[in-house]
Amino acid sequence: MKTIFITGMAGMIGFHSAKKFHELGWKVTGLDNFNDYYDVRLKYTREAILNGFGIEIAHTDIQEPDSYEELIKNADVVLHLAAYANPRHSFEEPQHYIDTNITGTQRILEVAEQYDTPVVYASSSCVMHGQPLPWNEHDRPAHQNNAYGWSKRSNECQFMHSKLTRSTGLRFFTVYGPYGRPDMALFKFTDAILEDNALTIYNFGDMKRDFTYVDDIVQGVVIVTDDILKPAKTSDGVCHEIYNIGYGEQVQLMDFVHEIEKNLDRKGRYDMVPAHPADTPETWADTTKLEALGYKPTTPVSEGVREFVSWYKEYYNVN
Ligand SMILES: NC(=O)c1ccc[n+]([C@@H]2O[C@H](COP(=O)([O-])OP(=O)(O)OC[C@H]3O[C@@H](n4cnc5c(N)ncnc54)[C@H](O)[C@@H]3O)[C@@H](O)[C@H]2O)c1
Repeated sequence: MKTIFITGMAGMIGFHSAKKFHELGWKVTGLDNFNDYYDVRLKYTREAILNGFGIEIAHTDIQEPDSYEELIKNADVVLHLAAYANPRHSFEEPQHYIDTNITGTQRILEVAEQYDTPVVYASSSCVMHGQPLPWNEHDRPAHQNNAYGWSKRSNECQFMHSKLTRSTGLRFFTVYGPYGRPDMALFKFTDAILEDNALTIYNFGDMKRDFTYVDDIVQGVVIVTDDILKPAKTSDGVCHEIYNIGYGEQVQLMDFVHEIEKNLDRKGRYDMVPAHPADTPETWADTTKLEALGYKPTTPVSEGVREFVSWYKEYYNVN
């Protein structure tokens, strides 16, 4: 039985990934510091569900390597997802992004280096801010416009120049789905529509995102994790890779909003405001590289939003 150690396992992607690896017959271990950046009850709910499958989450911080060294030593692979993850929030609180995303990641990396444990880690589409679209993995990132973006670009540099034999960075594109993040658009817009509050719409609605359903993200994570356990095809066996994981299509922000309204059968009120300085106007994933390993996303926004709204209504008991 293979063992995967997941950091940030009480988070949205960590939770869904842990469930999937368990279903696939892996032993799953992991950690989370359960910080209260967003409603921590959601993290405890995810933990309770994972506990039901026999998966335990160590309550600890990635900045404390002694607390998880043994777990990495006993793992075949590390899936490193723990982070602060919001570009606009990073504009207000950059230090969290330095402490957790850069310093914390360095601690994980150093322990993994001791045992040469392969690491799959979360980067982000936003490292490509300002580059010609669609974004691919061979064009070089330039200047990220917020601390979140440059912390994720730092992670890519940290792993690219590490002593690890194998590491792979994943650039996720706007992930959404059940048990999602309350600080992200889908959750916030759903809350606002149901509470009859105005939806804050940045850049007067003129934004496009490559929205990616969490099951498609997990499909990509599993493919890349299987791949990292195979010998690298390089002459010395050493390999650092980057992959985009997106749906591969752009959706206008207002079309996304209308999809939520349709599923809630209610119309929202909009507060149209200028762009936030941490925003990027458009994202779009070129997923050719991951497709070559068998990746095929299956969930368009029409289906994914329906799944989210149906989960939300049940979870929060909304009629
Ligand atoms: N959700 C997206 O759209 C998206 C897009 C691009 C990249 N990512 C990246 O994917 C990863 C997972 O994101 P998510 O959406 O599941 O976010 P999330 O906030 O739901 O999950 C992150 C988890 O990490 C934990 N954590 C934070 N700091 C920690 C620390 N110092 N020690 C231990 N645990 C800590 C948090 O408590 C949280 O449960 C992150 O690295 C994020 O940057 C996400």
